[in-house]
Amino acid sequence: MAAAPALLICASAQLEDGGLAYRFEIAQADGSRLPAFAIRYRGQVHGYLNRCCHVPIELDLQDGKLFDLSGHHLICSTHGARYHPATGYCSWGPCRGQSLTALDVIEENGQVWLNVMPG
Ligand code: FES
Repeated sequence: MAAAPALLICASAQLEDGGLAYRFEIAQADGSRLPAFAIRYRGQVHGYLNRCCHVPIELDLQDGKLFDLSGHHLICSTHGARYHPATGYCSWGPCRGQSLTALDVIEENGQVWLNVMPG
C-alpha cells in the first residue's frame, strides 16, 4: 500500500515553546477521526494522539493547555497524569510507566507536518 501523503498541521510560528498545543485531527480509513496535538518543547516539535493512557479521553478538554506550570510536563486535566513533552512517557499519575502515542511530526520551511499517518 502506498504511503499516505503528509498532513500539514500548522505554521511553525503557531507553536510557542512550552505554549499552547495545536489541536488537529487525523482522518482514518473507516471515517473516524483521531484527535491529536502538536507542541514545541526546547525548540523541537512533537506530536501525540490526544488520548490519556489511563482512560481514553482527551488530555486538555479542548483548549490546548497541556503544559503544567513548570513548562516541563504535559498534564492530563482529568486526573493529573504528567507526561514528558519530548517522549510522552508518563512519570506520575494513574498511568505511570505508560506513554502517549507519539506521532511522526516534522518541521520544514516554517511549517509543521505529520510525516507518516499512524497505522
Ligand atoms: S484520564 Fe488522564 S490521568 Fe486519568
